[in-house]
Amino acid sequence: MRGLHRSRRTIRGGRAGAMSLMLAACALPLAGCKLAQSTYNAHGPAAAHIATLAWFMTILFLVITAIMWILIGYAFYRRRGSLETHEPIDSSGGEGWIAIGGFAIPVVVLTIIFIWGLMLLGRYPIHGVGGGMPSAKAMMAMKPKIRIIGHQWWWEIQYLSDDPSQSFTTANELHIPVGQPVSIEVETADVMHSFWIPALHGKVDLVPSQPNYIRIVASQPGEYHGQCAEFCGDEHARMLLLAIAQPPAAYQAWKQAQLQPGHEPTTPEAIEGKQVFLGSPCAMCHTVRGTRALGHVAPDLTHIGSRKMIASDVYPNNNAYLMAWITHAQSLKPDCLMPNLTQFSGTQLQDLVAYLRQLQ
Ligand code: CUA
Repeated sequence: MRGLHRSRRTIRGGRAGAMSLMLAACALPLAGCKLAQSTYNAHGPAAAHIATLAWFMTILFLVITAIMWILIGYAFYRRRGSLETHEPIDSSGGEGWIAIGGFAIPVVVLTIIFIWGLMLLGRYPIHGVGGGMPSAKAMMAMKPKIRIIGHQWWWEIQYLSDDPSQSFTTANELHIPVGQPVSIEVETADVMHSFWIPALHGKVDLVPSQPNYIRIVASQPGEYHGQCAEFCGDEHARMLLLAIAQPPAAYQAWKQAQLQPGHEPTTPEAIEGKQVFLGSPCAMCHTVRGTRALGHVAPDLTHIGSRKMIASDVYPNNNAYLMAWITHAQSLKPDCLMPNLTQFSGTQLQDLVAYLRQLQ
């Protein structure tokens, strides 16, 4: 008896454990919303509209799924008993269930979501300026402030101005002023990619020879992670992007700093590192403005030291990861264009990293 009691308790404990595990599993994606990129974690007006639809769909589908399981459970229980106590399987009745559950409810639900989705699309891509889809002419006349060019597998970010002295290029870290709509033109240098920062807006595809436009607004300062949302080759999953929304004054200060040429090194290591950089293959692919390194096939490194991450927002920008990236990029991001540069001595590598880190 005592044994039975204990085993019941074990079963109950097991059930409780499984239940809490299930709850934890359900809570995990929601708890992660604050940190992770998530459609539910909206920080801009366009993203908020998308999040409302996403929540509506999530809750609706959860309710429908729960009802389905209750009905399945009911069907199992009512079929208990002998064949004599039930009507033959081919007897009529139950058509109402099929008409309502199999036809009427899906038509109503899918129609609501379809129309809601179309209304959202109609506000795309210039949400925030009166709504409605602009004409093709208006799109052509729209002057983007930022052009983002997708590459396998990183993001080139050009800040544009009518005054060329106010234009500059950076990579993988998009800075925007809080509360101000920012027009972005997206293009690709190779295959299709898709620009997506879930906290700020929906996706917009980067299509060869077809510039697309999106206008984003961040309602709060913060760091919002983005992700290429169109399969674009081996390292598609490591084509990340960091958007940093700053108060306008901080944004202007960042912009002024970015407009400056690469910082002239002052420490002996960094001075030595600049020579290593300019004498190595680095200078053939990367640009550091103010030096003779003017390569355009790889990210602009003029202010690499100011960025939080490297390798398209995949690894933290610190000495260890920079060294690892220089010597073993093919291990950290296989098949990317950055080769393993193993020709440097230990001192040369340290000097090179010292130079890159001071490019603030
Ligand atoms: Cu670029 Cu996926």
